[in-house]
Amino acid sequence: MPVLRIYEHGEALSRAAAELFAEQARAAVADRGRFVVLLAGGSTPRRAYELLAEEPLVSRVPWPDCHFFWGDERCLPEGHQLRNETMARQALLDRLPIPTTQIHPIRYHQKPAQAASDYVTELRRFFAGQSPRFDLILLGLGDDGHTASLLPGSAALHEQEQWTAVTRRPEEPFSRVTLTVPLLNRGACTVFLVSGRGKAAVLQSIFGATDTQGTLPAQFIRPDRAEAVWLVDREAASLLEEGHGGG
Ligand code: 6PG
Repeated sequence: MPVLRIYEHGEALSRAAAELFAEQARAAVADRGRFVVLLAGGSTPRRAYELLAEEPLVSRVPWPDCHFFWGDERCLPEGHQLRNETMARQALLDRLPIPTTQIHPIRYHQKPAQAASDYVTELRRFFAGQSPRFDLILLGLGDDGHTASLLPGSAALHEQEQWTAVTRRPEEPFSRVTLTVPLLNRGACTVFLVSGRGKAAVLQSIFGATDTQGTLPAQFIRPDRAEAVWLVDREAASLLEEGHGGG
């Protein structure tokens, strides 16, 4: 059963997420000499990323040994405000002395399919032909149960061979590139960050009585090494019965 930790508010949730990131980074570098993290997009992780760039946490993380990938990206030009890369750079990466060779954005030029394929090449190169393994995978949750850019009912959700896929949300004028379930399940530590009342209903579907037969995209994330950890705030957990988790 996934681990559910409930925090009083978004700030406490973000602090817990940032502390967990620092802890995982130190452990991975001590054990294996590097820390490979898959960053989440959207807005929820921003505050956690900001806290990592400030004391006391900024001095605790072995930044020169950290390598950054993304779980998904919007097919928009480099620097576009809606790119997940832009958010992570503004909140964290551009505030730290991290070699550019250790930051691996999902680059988009003209064709989403090319961006998806280029990312596979990047992953294969980095993992030197071995199967990718991330020390930490951070994920968000959409109010429809999507995670990364794996949308409900999409073919990408059922992709078992390819490491990346191109998806599109009907209401958006751009495509997305997402890692697929096989890769998103290859995290030594997998953490969902969920905040706000807008996520209460979907969290109830995932943890509560509503039986979704595990059809929501976030329910496809069953890490092969350890149960996912869900860091949520009280608003997002407001429809869960008593006795679920505790921050
Ligand atoms: C994206 C994200 C997506 C996000 C959820 C939650 O590119 O939008 O990868 O999966 O994590 O939609 O977004 P919020 O954190 O903004 O609620």
